[in-house]
Formats: sequence, structure tokens, C-alpha cells
Amino acid sequence: MIPVAELHARRTKLVQHMVPNSVAIIPAGREVVRSNDTHYSFRQNSDYWYCSGINEPDGVLVVLPKQGELPEQSVLFVLPRDQQAEIWHGRRLGCDMAKEIAGVDRCESTDDLEYLLVELLDGRSDLYIAQGDDTWFSPYLAEALSELRAGKRQGMQAPERIHDLNTLLHNQRLIKSPYEQEVMRQACKISADAHRRAMKFTQAGLYEYQVAAEIHHEFAMRGASGPAYGTICGSGENACILHYTSNSDQLKQGDLLLIDAGAEYLGYAGDITRTFPVSGTFTEPQRKLYKVVLQAQEAALAVLKPGVTLPDAYRACTQVLVAGLVELGILVGDTDTLIKNLAFRPYFMHGLGHWLGLDVHDMGNYQVNGKPRPLEPGMVLTVEPGIYIPINADCPVAYRGIGIRIEDDILITEHGYENLTATVPKSIEGIEALMRAGR
Ligand code: GLY
Ligand code: MN
Ligand code: MN
Repeated sequence: MIPVAELHARRTKLVQHMVPNSVAIIPAGREVVRSNDTHYSFRQNSDYWYCSGINEPDGVLVVLPKQGELPEQSVLFVLPRDQQAEIWHGRRLGCDMAKEIAGVDRCESTDDLEYLLVELLDGRSDLYIAQGDDTWFSPYLAEALSELRAGKRQGMQAPERIHDLNTLLHNQRLIKSPYEQEVMRQACKISADAHRRAMKFTQAGLYEYQVAAEIHHEFAMRGASGPAYGTICGSGENACILHYTSNSDQLKQGDLLLIDAGAEYLGYAGDITRTFPVSGTFTEPQRKLYKVVLQAQEAALAVLKPGVTLPDAYRACTQVLVAGLVELGILVGDTDTLIKNLAFRPYFMHGLGHWLGLDVHDMGNYQVNGKPRPLEPGMVLTVEPGIYIPINADCPVAYRGIGIRIEDDILITEHGYENLTATVPKSIEGIEALMRAGR
């Protein structure tokens, strides 16, 4: 459960950024059909979870800043208690319990959503809602707005301006509170321990999905709700497929295995990648290429601190990465020219990293006023350079078909950063030693 004081602070901060006489609406997630009459495992909408701490589908949170005599208030709608539904589908919190958990001023049944929504919106001039997200809630909102507009002569007033709630809420979510930082440390710790476990477990003859299962086992045993995204276990050439999730091949002795996996803990994602030899020992070409990626990642990490931007770190990274590719004969030419011409893009085609939080690719703008956003204490981001050499690449044969990525989760602090995933070995010696220990 999210502490009530934390939820209060989040809603108060949101209200502080809303214009006077406004209202914000945040709908919950809905269950999604998997096949016929069964559903995917429910995952709450991140914004609703962030603001309400309620993990049930179909709810709605309405946040109302102070207006005239009316104090600031939050009104939550949740599914009503229902004996039959609860026997078949599971317990519901009901209004009393939900009110307590969310720490809201008022809680109502979703049965009354339609007419209470009209009441709550009436007279508010500005409405904040996630624009462009065509959720199940859109028809409810359209209906309430039409009713208010039709009721003009009776003195009703529909909001005149609609603002994108995402801009406010997602920029707020970008800076993690001390509570969030602690939860993310835990999400990252569980993810890191699962990677260590996988390294010790890996050997030739196993299947990629068996290594993935080992990771998921650790997540579950540690109280994580599951993987924060589709686990990637790609051996050999599969490591060159960035979002490889079929995890269906058998591990071969001379291959590398790339694992990109992270636990979701109390809604927050870990996101770690390690690449290591199935045999427990890097071959010479693997070792050489691995060192380039590791040094490129270290170069990016070295510049991270408040005020620095992601493109600054990307530049530091590519400088080392391209120099390394030239040294190995994979790229030919002058490093600066190769960087300027983006000659490395066929081998490093993705960005350096992304914000991390309730969503693995977390919300929040990467640019402010058309310029890269400077890092601030409390931001969490990944740093994940990679080199992927296609099997038909025009380069020394020894490197063809190798894919390597190294990814850590970084909390920006007052004077630098904290690596939340540092306990998974990434030096060649560290990886080989841990794998030996597992044998
Ligand atoms: N696992 C997705 C990513 O690393 O961005
Ligand atoms: Mn990842
Ligand atoms: Mn990532």
C-alpha cells in the first residue's frame, strides 16, 4: 500500500499546478480480454495508481482544487461491494475501505458515476484529462459534458477549456519522492538478484525460456508482481533482435546470452540488461567487443549529475563506442567523422536510455522549450548502450552475429548518481567468477 501521506502530497502537488476553478479526472485501468471470457492479469493505470493507491479496475478519481467556499477535495469512485461478483471474480474494497486506503475526502460507487460526474464538473471552467488516450471513460465524459451544455438555461456550466493532464502529472512523476526512491531501490534489488541467479543457472543445453523462468521465479519469491515488461532472453544471434521475447531457442556453448529483464514491485519497474557467455567464459572476440560496450557505458555514467543532459551522456558514450569499433576493424575511418556521419547507427541503433518509474519507459518530457532536459536529483533513468553486429555485416567474421547490451538503472542525486543495479556483475572477471560459483 502507498502511505496515505504520500498520496496526499502527490495530489496536493498536482493541485498546486492546476489553474483556479478547475478539475482533474483520472480514470483507472480496465480488464482486457485475453481469450473468450478470460482476462489478462490486471495491471492498474500508472497515473491512477500514482494518485489513488487503489489497485482495482473501473474506478475514477476526481481531484478538485479549492473553489470559493468549497475546500480542495478528492472524490473517488470504486466498484460497489457485490456478493455474487466477489464470489466469482474476487474481493472488492468497497467505498469505506477504498476511502481509507486512498485517503480521499469522499468515495462513491461507480454505479453513481454518471450523475455525480455532472455535479462535480458543473461550474468548473477548466478540465484536466489525459488527452488522446481513448479510454473506456471517454463516453462517460462526453455524456457529462453534453448534459452540462444542454443545461445552460438551468444555470449549468460546462468546462470551457480542456488541458492535457499528462503534461502536469507526468512531469511530476519524473521526480521521484524519497518514498518512491526507496521502492525503486527494492524493485532494482529484486531485479538484480534475479539476474545473478540467471547467471549462475545458465548452461548449454537449457532453453532461453527456462532461464526466463528462473528469473520470474525469483521475482515472485521476492514479492514482485511479475516482470515489468516482456523478458528478453536472447542467445547467439537472437541478441541482435532488440525486443526479442519468444525466448524459444536452446543455449549453445560458444554463444553469448543477452538478458533484459526487470521486476515490477509496488508498480515500479526495474530494467536491467546483462550479456554473458553461456559457457561461463568469454571467447576472445566476445571479450573484445564486450569491453567496448562496457567502456562506452562507463563513459556515459561518468558524466551523469544534475544539470547534464541525456545527449551529453550519449556523446560521451558514442565517442568511446566508435573508437572501439574502429580499433576492432568493424568501422573504418576517423572517429569524429564516423560519429558525425552516424556510421555507427547500423550497430547501435537505439537511444542511450530512458526515464524509469511506474512505466518501464516512464512518462515525462525529454525536452523543455525545445532543448534537452537537464537532469535533476530524484530522476531515475536507464543507461543502456549496445552493439549488435548483423550476421551479414561487412566486418571481420569473428564479430558477426554478436549482440551485447549492458543496462543499469540510475538515480540522479544532489552531486552525482546512485547506480541502483550495481550488484549484478558486469566486468568480465566479475561475470566469469559468479558463473563459476554457480557451477
Ligand atoms: N527493456 C526495454 C528497455 O530496455 O528499454
Ligand atoms: Mn531493458
Ligand atoms: Mn531500458
